[in-house]
Amino acid sequence: MAKSNGKTALITGSTDGVGRLVAARLAAGGWRVLVHGRDRKRGEALVAEIKAAGGDAEFLPADLASIAEVRRLADAVRKATPRLELLINNAGLASGAARTERRTSADRHELLFAVNYLSGFLLTHLLLPLLAKSAPARIVNVSSLGQQAIDFDDVMLTQGYSGSRAYCQSKLAQILFTIDLAGELAGSGVTVNTLHPATYMNTTMVQQSGVTPISSVEEGADAILKLAVSPELEGKSGLYCNGQREARADAQAYDADARRKLRALSIKLTGLSAKEHASPQRGRR
Ligand SMILES: NC(=O)c1ccc[n+]([C@@H]2O[C@H](COP(=O)([O-])OP(=O)(O)OC[C@H]3O[C@@H](n4cnc5c(N)ncnc54)[C@H](OP(=O)(O)O)[C@@H]3O)[C@@H](O)[C@H]2O)c1
Repeated sequence: MAKSNGKTALITGSTDGVGRLVAARLAAGGWRVLVHGRDRKRGEALVAEIKAAGGDAEFLPADLASIAEVRRLADAVRKATPRLELLINNAGLASGAARTERRTSADRHELLFAVNYLSGFLLTHLLLPLLAKSAPARIVNVSSLGQQAIDFDDVMLTQGYSGSRAYCQSKLAQILFTIDLAGELAGSGVTVNTLHPATYMNTTMVQQSGVTPISSVEEGADAILKLAVSPELEGKSGLYCNGQREARADAQAYDADARRKLRALSIKLTGLSAKEHASPQRGRR
């Protein structure tokens, strides 16, 4: 385990899959790691593993299918650390076996939109003051190649629901959010980028979908870590990468009007206050 670098990272969804490997590798590189997920046993096992190897970690449980829990998680992060140099919004779920059954969050939002996108939107905004204070700091949103344009007339997919549509819509929403936020954060010392880590990695999500894995978890972790810590990415913001290469996302990501609409809707759905939405950069103007 490397000597502490004095920096702290929060990786959502690090009790399993690619997030777990990313957290372990950051810890091995000297980062203090805030491990997050719902499963206390798996979260605490990773913390114990990191500590046994001489690293530093803490487990912060929260169910991202609840806005109140996202708020509690942000509070717990602020209590756990006075600085945050890296936030990786990685937690996510696919439609699983029940591909046709539409589910909702504690706040009655379509579940995949809530967990995969809205929770990250809210958590990021709540932690922006901490990230800005710790600048240079980075945000990485773990999205996917699976993308589908958001239908603003039925974002909650009450008509014609399919699990794949819900997943792809939520993943594109993360990309719109990334590009939008990068603009807001220009000059603040906080960058935000997004990526498709790798195709069908051998993780619980893929196994539960009944798909045969074709990529290793290591490949996805390498791509996430490149955006998270590589000096090559210093100062770069608003990028979408396919693996380790810059790529083009679905056309809707480049539609400024769609991004504005999604931002307004997300503020409304999460109940983000004007003060909480004021970006550090805007605050300085
Ligand atoms: N696997 C792939 O091939 C692939 C491809 C493209 C993109 N991605 C993206 O990569 C990210 C990680 O995927 P993975 O394959 O590593 O998945 P995974 O092995 O299923 O792990 C998912 C993680 O997210 C957490 N999570 C799920 N629902 C949650 C909730 N409601 N509240 C809090 N935490 C929750 C889980 O925590 P608990 O288990 O503790 O609840 C777990 O730590 C996802 O965003 C996914 O969309 C994956």
